[in-house]
Amino acid sequence: MKQRSPGLEALREYTRPVPRLAVPGSHSALQILLGAREEGLEAILVATRAQFEAIYSRFPWLYTRVVLLDSWKELATRRVVSELRGLETILVPHGSLVEYVGPDNLLDLELPMLGNRFLLPIEASWEEKMRLIEEAGIPTPRRIRSPGEATGPVIVKLPGAKGGRGYRIALPGELEHVLSEIEKLGYKRDEVIIQEFLVGVRLYAHYFASPVMGRVELLGMDQRLESNIDGLARLPPGIASRLGLEPSFTVVANTPMVARESLLAKILRYGDAFAEAVERRTGYPMTGPFSLEGVVTDDLEYRVFEFSGRIVAGTNVYTGQQTPYAALYWEEPMYMGRRIARELRLAAERRQLEKIIT
Ligand SMILES: Nc1ncnc2c1ncn2[C@@H]1O[C@H](COP(=O)(O)OP(=O)(O)O)[C@@H](O)[C@H]1O
Ligand SMILES: [Mg+2]
Repeated sequence: MKQRSPGLEALREYTRPVPRLAVPGSHSALQILLGAREEGLEAILVATRAQFEAIYSRFPWLYTRVVLLDSWKELATRRVVSELRGLETILVPHGSLVEYVGPDNLLDLELPMLGNRFLLPIEASWEEKMRLIEEAGIPTPRRIRSPGEATGPVIVKLPGAKGGRGYRIALPGELEHVLSEIEKLGYKRDEVIIQEFLVGVRLYAHYFASPVMGRVELLGMDQRLESNIDGLARLPPGIASRLGLEPSFTVVANTPMVARESLLAKILRYGDAFAEAVERRTGYPMTGPFSLEGVVTDDLEYRVFEFSGRIVAGTNVYTGQQTPYAALYWEEPMYMGRRIARELRLAAERRQLEKIIT
């Protein structure tokens, strides 16, 4: 069923031929600001005082105005929303914004938003999130619904975009204990997800769904460097367990990646299939950046353990550059931040803004 879109309603008041971008300061803000500048769009930075002073105040040429917040929760207040509406901005959401402001507040935000906001409640629940990937026909890791079902190593994940923080790997015999520890931290069992721990090469594919061009573009890929799991691999075998070191998955950095070309058959197909599944489920098109996160196993299967319905920070590896995949679609340097601004500019010029926002 198609729900009403508060962003489309707000858009009707706008009169500028090309809207401004509202860019939340953190995550991938620098790349989005740079992209807006390269496309000749005006960007309004929305940032907490602390982050503004520490980072964004050093790059004043990237935005024309700053809306300062004492805390991120303020973004959803009437004062800030009406200021951003008065400036005729379109909000570019990212993972940190969802974590700071909360999916429910963003879902109701009366401000035009790039992309499909109806993915927010789906992403907030592991159950719904994995169901959507399955509906797209994309292979996923085996799901363990009770400790008895585990036959090999599993990963136990907490709800919300945690950047991997607090996730645990367990062997079947340890699972009950790990789950009770997680309960003691205040999480309910039905909020966590237990998946088969996939062994292979992690691959995070970056897509851009473009209603203006009528296609899903594969713009890049990255791999994450996560602490301490990536450091554990450098210890001689056996040392970690002797020291009692548990693996953890805190994202620290990202590196660019290209896949062997034959894998593109699957990677490209899954991008299209995902976008189609989103439209079937929400009634609104998949628009703008999204990412499939998975592991390529030794039988060259790409199994997807989660998705992001908006820009992922891994796209920062290409800020200001041409990416090996974007080069196939665009002759000039095109990275995710710039691609966002390009879509907004093209949509505005063709009077199709309502196609790309909700
Ligand atoms: N099924 C899996 N098998 C192997 N590693 C996984 C699996 N699921 C997640 N991971 C690892 O844990 C990290 C965080 O998991 P993810 O599902 O992306 O959660 P988040 O929402 O925190 O980004 C991944 O980047 C990856 O390294
Ligand atoms: Mg992830």
